Amino acid sequence: MNLVKRCVYGISILSLVSMNVQCKGEKKEEAAGTAQEAKATDSVSIVKTVYGETEKGEQIDRYTLKNQKGMEVNIITYGGIITSLKVPNKAGKSEEVVIGFNSLEQYQKANPYFGALIGRFGNRIAKGKFTLDGKQYSLAINNEPNALHGGPEGFHRVVWTAEEAKGGDTASLKLKYVAKDMEEGYPGNLTVFVTYTLNKDNALDVLYEATTDKKTVVNLTQHSYFNLSSDFSKPILDHEITIDADKLVPVDATLIPTGKLTDVTNTPFDFRKPKAVGKEINAADDQLKKGLGYDHCWVLNNQGKGDRLVASAYHAGSGRLLEVYTDQPGIQFYSGNFLDGTLPMRNGGTYAHRTGFCLETQHYPDSPNQKDFPTTVLSPGENYKTKTTFKFSVK
Ligand code: BGC
Repeated sequence: MNLVKRCVYGISILSLVSMNVQCKGEKKEEAAGTAQEAKATDSVSIVKTVYGETEKGEQIDRYTLKNQKGMEVNIITYGGIITSLKVPNKAGKSEEVVIGFNSLEQYQKANPYFGALIGRFGNRIAKGKFTLDGKQYSLAINNEPNALHGGPEGFHRVVWTAEEAKGGDTASLKLKYVAKDMEEGYPGNLTVFVTYTLNKDNALDVLYEATTDKKTVVNLTQHSYFNLSSDFSKPILDHEITIDADKLVPVDATLIPTGKLTDVTNTPFDFRKPKAVGKEINAADDQLKKGLGYDHCWVLNNQGKGDRLVASAYHAGSGRLLEVYTDQPGIQFYSGNFLDGTLPMRNGGTYAHRTGFCLETQHYPDSPNQKDFPTTVLSPGENYKTKTTFKFSVK
């Protein structure tokens, strides 16, 4: 495995085998042997490679899940980050559709949660404070004046342990992380499992499970930035979005919910029928002004009815369609308004304004401080369990 460590950071073993580069004269057969773990007859394969080493010297692995319909997902054990997700366009060409970097070093630098798992609490908690059973907890303020996405050292920056599993027509990667009592200011030792499962029909399930030994709050999500055109130099304004929601969670100037839920009818937030992101994003609208575009949580319809189709994104040029299924009550649609051309793309250039969008299934922001929102409290003896599916096709 030393071979891999020295020579293959950022290059998969599979590509090493075919590229015949870099490690000339070194133990190439070993790499080839590992790659053969993915049997040609398997409909969905999973292959592990060493991705790199953190600043603290921890080994980070990468898992490549691949099916025979052209979908390939790369996930690293640092932050449970999806570093790459490739799906076919209408001509059958499989291409990259998520924003990402090409090195672990870059993922460890400040970035807006590219592809990462988010926890212990997704989105904002007002002024980083909440009360549970009469006790006030204080979190780091990492998004003035609020706490965002689990804190500066949230689940997006921790190393997860991983276990692979092969089903008949699926391959899974089960990640585990145990967050300590008071880690990032949250009470309770929280044992978290996130299982990514790729099936043969281009759907990626993300199953989140957690238990605690003390009452706490939990809101887990996935923070991939999609651009279905695969051209990351272009904004996502031409993507047509659908969100099955009659209501929105409006926010104040610091993006904290006001506590009211408002009707989307006759507003730029009505995505009940497919609408291009760019159609109304610059409309004179108070909520759009606050989010600098779309950066809001929608109150999904059909709550409590289990898994259902809640949102979609369609890019006509490529023909790619992404459908999102979840059992969660909300979805944060974020149109990449804070991407500002400072972070490097994989092959040169930088990620500019609105070149990726997120569809983060979750509970509403600031729920621990909002008595009328569905609860995010998890008590000992309870199981937090929720699933989201990202399903890709063409039309
Ligand atoms: C939030 C944005 C934030 C982005 C990256 C999204 O989930 O809603 O406000 O800028 O994450 O941090």
